Amino acid sequence: MSRDRITTDPARIADILRRGGVAAIPTETVYGLAGSIESREAIARIFEIKERPLFDPLIVHVTGAEQARALVMEWPETAERLAQTFWPGPLTLVLPKRTVLDPLITANLETVGVRAPDHPLTLKAIELVGAPVAAPSANRFGRTSPTTAEHVLSEFPEHDFPILDGGACAVGLESTVVAIDSERALRILRPGAVTAEALRRALGDDVGFSTAPSRESPGHSPKHYQPAIPLVLVASVRTIDDDLAREAAAELSLARADFVELELNPDPRLAARSLYADLRRLAGSGAALILVRMPADASDPGWEAIRDRLTRAASLVL
Ligand code: TXA
Ligand code: MG
Repeated sequence: MSRDRITTDPARIADILRRGGVAAIPTETVYGLAGSIESREAIARIFEIKERPLFDPLIVHVTGAEQARALVMEWPETAERLAQTFWPGPLTLVLPKRTVLDPLITANLETVGVRAPDHPLTLKAIELVGAPVAAPSANRFGRTSPTTAEHVLSEFPEHDFPILDGGACAVGLESTVVAIDSERALRILRPGAVTAEALRRALGDDVGFSTAPSRESPGHSPKHYQPAIPLVLVASVRTIDDDLAREAAAELSLARADFVELELNPDPRLAARSLYADLRRLAGSGAALILVRMPADASDPGWEAIRDRLTRAASLVL
């Protein structure tokens, strides 16, 4: 595994992206695997490296609203307000796209997801490329997203694309994805750090929200974010002990039932920040199973995204 793939120089990364290469980039949510939207070769390579199905569209990363406007048919007042309030930050806006945008990026959909990531090195790199970059999370399809440069390296040891090291991701979970269907109707396609409550505060009470059926967020499938060993989500009041682990192992047809427990930080922001790093560490612990209790606290909307990811990462719910 070659450590000289890791750099802290956004100019080196921009150079590669400008020439149609791919590179991993840090964001405040998770690391992305980026290619310039102007290089079809880079975009195709991203799907190949991730082993990602072509029906799953990529998010386009921009420096701000000005670049975003050039990608969409219309930039409604609602988009402007949300960009002003939350960008750069963990919010992806889905809007009808302009036809010039490569259909490979958007998986032939009529819409495009755009966001300005809150990371100085990546904003600098995009600025130097002079064009937005498309970037899914830098993990193999269906697996846990990386939140450090080391995670990306260990996810893709056999590849040689460079990795821009921006430290550990501050948010730790993928962005909130929201479709703007009209000025007053939004659909949350994937929950994240920007909650429905926060969106409502920014837009006012007369905005309608719905949660999308999963087919409308093509890549956000029920089985996603999975660690390398089975995760068992304990959604009941049962005690986490050997008996429970044996029952889980039997259900999953595992020969062994030795387990490690993932204990979530009681503060959802801190729990989110370390969730994926913890899952990777525990998946490498040698145990047969990871057991985690579903967060029960419904009062803090910060738990919603964590519940969503745990549910999708789980091989079994008990
Ligand atoms: O925080 C993030 O969003 C990270 C960082 C790298 O920015 N990116 C990320 O990308 O999580 P990815 O590809 O792993 O997840 C993108 C999600 C997928 O569920 C995809 O289906 C959805 O966004 N998406 C992208 N464009 C869309 C569109 N036009 N319509 C509906 N869903 C879209
Ligand atoms: Mg992903």
